[in-house]
Amino acid sequence: MEADPTFADVLAARDLLAAHLPPTPMWSYPALDAAAGAQVYVKHENVQPVGAFKVRGGLTLLAGLTPAERARGLVTYSTGNHAQSIAYACAAFDAACTVVMPAAANPAKVRAVRALGATVLLDGANMAGAQTRAEEYAAAADRLLVSPGDTASLVAGVGTAYLEILTARPDLDAVIVPVGSGTGAAGAVLVAAELAPNCRVIAVQSAAAPAAHDSWRSGSCVARANTTAVDGLATGRGFALPQRVLRAGLADFHLVTDAEIAAAQRLLATHAHTLAEGAGAAALAAVLTRPTEFAGQRIAIVCSGGNASPAEIAALGAA
Ligand SMILES: Cc1ncc(COP(=O)(O)O)c(C=O)c1O
Repeated sequence: MEADPTFADVLAARDLLAAHLPPTPMWSYPALDAAAGAQVYVKHENVQPVGAFKVRGGLTLLAGLTPAERARGLVTYSTGNHAQSIAYACAAFDAACTVVMPAAANPAKVRAVRALGATVLLDGANMAGAQTRAEEYAAAADRLLVSPGDTASLVAGVGTAYLEILTARPDLDAVIVPVGSGTGAAGAVLVAAELAPNCRVIAVQSAAAPAAHDSWRSGSCVARANTTAVDGLATGRGFALPQRVLRAGLADFHLVTDAEIAAAQRLLATHAHTLAEGAGAAALAAVLTRPTEFAGQRIAIVCSGGNASPAEIAALGAA
């Protein structure tokens, strides 16, 4: 089994990523603070080259592979942003990339993955179906299979976002992280433990896909129904590696509804000049639905992605 990621791995990832990605901005917006009743810092991962924080992990993974591993090519499975991250990184490191996405994947994300040069196979009713197909394909073609959750270098890479947040603001009361597989939240836990032990790392997931939440609360990886429309958070099972890290350091884990996420997306658009996809607004949704818990606090919310589909954007305007 691969060793669990450490804070030292996050520092090493930061050094690797320096040649590829500038730090992302983190801004406060007075109108948003007033609406949230807290001092809110929005970490803008939506401005990454693939529109989501995941690219930090993909580039860290590819940078750490041997030339022979890269020559074999990679296979992974994803609802979209992990796919774009691996496709982007494979293009940067000249490795072949195949991504299996669920048949009903967000068309904007499918288009973006193909535009990055990857081969996309649309297969499976959901992530579990896409995973099965990816495993079969990787075995038949002798390619390197990349788990979107149980891969240490992905956690180390995405953890660099939290190095930036907590280096800039070590005095935060809380950092709120949207969760699908849990790599981002695991990276946050590793960094907060070293840089800001008083900062609570709080995870948030859609109540319509609560597998990571329920896995953390129950202490073992469970599978759950996955009916959320928020594709970045649409996983149906807990992933062992991030869950191990979360168990050691996560302060709390909240659930929000898809409707609450959409309301937060609207608020980011009107009060923070930001088009977030649903997953990118989930952290704000957690704050808005718990005004007492966060009142007057200094909190960072991670706007983890901005890849909203045209249909998603139209629905926001219609409400
Ligand atoms: C925009 C966005 N936010 C949050 C997440 C959840 O991240 P993780 O799978 O690391 O928990 C994802 C996952 O794809 C995502 O695309």
